[in-house]
Amino acid sequence: MQPQIVLLKEGTDSSQGKPQLVSNINACQSIVDAVRTTLGPRGMDKLIVDARGKATISNDGATIMKLLEIIHPAAKTLVDIAKSQDAEVGDGTTSVVLLAGEFLKQVKPFVEEGVHPRVIIKAIRKALQLCMEKINEMAVQIVEQSKDQQRALLEKCAATAMSSKLIHQQKDFFSRIVVDAVLSLDELLPLNMIGIKKLKAERDNAEIRVDNVKEYQKVVDAEWQILYNKLAKIHESGANVVLSKLPIGDVATQYFADRDIFCAGRVPEEDLKRTMKACGGAVMTTANDIKPNVLGLCEHFEERQVGGERFNLFQGCPNAKTSTLILRGGAEQFLEETERSLHDAIMIVRRTIKHDSVVAGGGAIEMELSKLLRDYSRTIAGKEQLLIAAIAKGLEIIPRQLCDNAGFDATNILNKLRQKHAQGECPILFVHTKPP
Ligand SMILES: Nc1ncnc2c1ncn2[C@@H]1O[C@H](COP(=O)(O)OP(=O)(O)OP(=O)(O)O)[C@@H](O)[C@H]1O
Ligand SMILES: [Mg+2]
Repeated sequence: MQPQIVLLKEGTDSSQGKPQLVSNINACQSIVDAVRTTLGPRGMDKLIVDARGKATISNDGATIMKLLEIIHPAAKTLVDIAKSQDAEVGDGTTSVVLLAGEFLKQVKPFVEEGVHPRVIIKAIRKALQLCMEKINEMAVQIVEQSKDQQRALLEKCAATAMSSKLIHQQKDFFSRIVVDAVLSLDELLPLNMIGIKKLKAERDNAEIRVDNVKEYQKVVDAEWQILYNKLAKIHESGANVVLSKLPIGDVATQYFADRDIFCAGRVPEEDLKRTMKACGGAVMTTANDIKPNVLGLCEHFEERQVGGERFNLFQGCPNAKTSTLILRGGAEQFLEETERSLHDAIMIVRRTIKHDSVVAGGGAIEMELSKLLRDYSRTIAGKEQLLIAAIAKGLEIIPRQLCDNAGFDATNILNKLRQKHAQGECPILFVHTKPP
């Protein structure tokens, strides 16, 4: 008898080939179903509760996908698509997942019938190339516009990005803020130079407990000695405001207060960096060698109470290329979602400034690409014809889902849209975001 050869460890799933491809596609399909209903202005938000019971309410595709903790390896690629879209563009995360899922769904019958994946991939590449050319051709350039026109367009872009979010009713207000914030940045448009602060309950203050007096005295003595040297140096430097990443002790606080110096401890690093960018100066790791050029400048400094928290406002900063938005609101989940939505809008405005061309939303570009591919497919023969036509159908998922989510009759509207596009028009499916 031949000895049995064990190649893979017990329990290894070694399924491959067609059934595995189909099963992967099915797994992706269920992920898409999870975010499908969030697309568009009438899309629903999702409430996701994690293992620790923390609830998150979100409309953001990438956030939802991240929170789903997907373990299926093929389905995970969809999460990666959403994540990379989030990192690169910031918005459109639901759309990319939906499109990817729909393309898979459309090519599934071909896989089942035994069409070789290479043939499918070739058709997809061809379709991609055609779509890219068309998008470039249709994109509206925004370079040749006046400042006001550019601003209006940026505001529109920001408002569109927010129209599908919880804050859509205040999108006019927020889009002005977002555009202001982005326009205040330097040419590189660094995202981390826009801070978003949420007003929440203050964290408990840390404290040290010592149980005998001698020990306490030692701590205090040491503190005094080291501190006094340091503090004197800071005072001599002529600084009026001292910001520190670490907590500032009572002694130091009093020392500064006696000399009319404002000090703040536990300043988050990103805030510190942003302030440094705006006011100049440098973040020092030691109190030695504080030269005038490491001190930042601003015209006016004040500490202002906003709600339950105090904020340090630096005004008239010489190189103000940074900004901070303060969000106040009720529920924490609401604030978090607002922050995410603003992030989407900020990213979109940055993109628009950097790339200076836009295409229409509301399913218009998708329908036009779909028409292009369908027309093209009619000019070629073989399997590729069917595959390109399938991809053309896949693109229709965006307007279809927008209709479904808004409660419209998708089949009816899509027929109308197809007809209009065939006649050479490029209508937009407009869903009212505010009650008329
Ligand atoms: N008023 C509107 N009418 C119709 N469609 C709209 C309207 N506003 C936005 N859209 C469309 O909604 C889609 C965007 O929806 P949504 O913001 O929910 O998803 P996303 O941008 O793909 O992902 P996410 O914002 O979660 O990262 C785009 O296709 C956009 O064209
Ligand atoms: Mg969006």
